[in-house]
Amino acid sequence: MKRIKAIYPGSFDPPTNGHLDLIERGSKIFDELIVAILRNPEKDPLLSVADRRRMLEAMTSDFDNVSVDTFEGLTVDYALRVEATAILRGIRAISDYEYELQMALMNRKIQPGLETVFMMPAEKYSYVSSRLVREVAQLGGSIDCLVPELVAQRLREKMDVAHKFDNAEQLADKTPSEGKSKSRKKKA
Ligand code: PNS
Repeated sequence: MKRIKAIYPGSFDPPTNGHLDLIERGSKIFDELIVAILRNPEKDPLLSVADRRRMLEAMTSDFDNVSVDTFEGLTVDYALRVEATAILRGIRAISDYEYELQMALMNRKIQPGLETVFMMPAEKYSYVSSRLVREVAQLGGSIDCLVPELVAQRLREKMDVAHKFDNAEQLADKTPSEGKSKSRKKKA
């Protein structure tokens, strides 16, 4: 019998409960599912690829047919390399559709043998996106119900370090700039 291997490509910066919900659904319809994290040298991510990989591996450890990998370059090329025949993508709302359709059609144009399969995460995650999770976390809001605990924990650590760094920078700025403003005043 034909076994269907799929990849679920994405940035996962950070992985959310919505991603996990989709992975669980995907694991039920595909024989094998590879969660493929894009290594994008042009983007400045919040979490390193190693962090995201570690998190996704922990999040998916209960699913026997799910693995985690990273890739660079075209998604379709990666899919061919790992001999996958389907690309899984999530659609939360109609606003996702246009971009996803464009991407799916472009992928099909480059590689006609690959099918994109869209699945919908549970409605309770329909508003959850990595971008909003990053924004809420960076502004000090709670992200507890939006991401798994290990992700929330790592984001809190990151934010603590960032705040400490900001405070240290502000302190460092103050002393010389106070001096500067005094000297500027003198000059004026
Ligand atoms: O989680 P994201 O950021 O929505 O995932 C987007 C992703 C990684 C699936 C998309 O940007 C992608 O496939 N990038 C790899 C480069 C590529 O294949 N580009 C052509 C897409 S039509």
